[in-house]
Amino acid sequence: MEYDGIGDLIMTTPADSKPSLPPHRTVRVDLGPRAYDVVIGRGIRKNLKTYLDALGLFGPIAVVTDANVYKFYNVEIADISSRADDDSLKTVCLDPGEKTKELKSFDAVFQDYAFVQSALAKWRIPRSGIVIAHGGGVIGDLAGFVAATYLRGINFVQVPTTLLAMVDSSVGGKTGVNLPEGKNLVGAFHQPKLVVADLDTLATLPAREFSAGMAEVIKYGAIRDKALFDRVSKPVKPDDQDLDEIVEKCVTIKARIVERDEFETKGERALLNFGHTIGHAIEKATEY
Ligand code: GLY
Repeated sequence: MEYDGIGDLIMTTPADSKPSLPPHRTVRVDLGPRAYDVVIGRGIRKNLKTYLDALGLFGPIAVVTDANVYKFYNVEIADISSRADDDSLKTVCLDPGEKTKELKSFDAVFQDYAFVQSALAKWRIPRSGIVIAHGGGVIGDLAGFVAATYLRGINFVQVPTTLLAMVDSSVGGKTGVNLPEGKNLVGAFHQPKLVVADLDTLATLPAREFSAGMAEVIKYGAIRDKALFDRVSKPVKPDDQDLDEIVEKCVTIKARIVERDEFETKGERALLNFGHTIGHAIEKATEY
């Protein structure tokens, strides 16, 4: 049986049999040949192997993560594909947080980039291989750029662990690294094959980072969805029952915009930079 995506996998589960996957929400990012699903739920990262198999992604896996995420999830990282035993799952662990992209010098950022590329080459990851970004937006951007350029482009999967990455950077295929001259000057559009947003990982997220994600959520409400805006005008916590619905709404808004303007040539996707551009300018001017 052929599957177009994770949604189909659920739909084809016979009604009288137990679904093999835990409850989750799926948003399709419909980009024709580059279409993919964003799967949103709790505990779903443990089903990554099932998802990859459903998509026909059987190649060796290289997980790119950072020390913070690794500290909490290293056992799971080794588990996610159930392939650790056959030596086809490797992990490369970088310094955490913004340091990976911003506070390091330009040379150091490219050293990280080259380090991951060399690791892939050393492990002889083939074109059928899969780069999995397991972390926040910085890891996603870097790992995505590696996936976009290693062997001129290999499979890429996002497993975001911050709210901001779940509702914004893991969706839409923007990848890259920063230059001293400005943010995101070097990069590529490289869509993931799958995004797995497991809300349980937000339990270990520092409050400040959760708030940064909420600012983005409020922005989606402000630009597109009054009901969402009204909901997030009240406090939201990582363990709230309706957080999956909130994330689904944001991802759906972003998906529809990306579908209409994938390469940011028509002006509509630039709407998503609302707030980012001024933020980047302030960071640059103040060397924040
Ligand atoms: N973060 C803005 C975009 O993906 O277009």
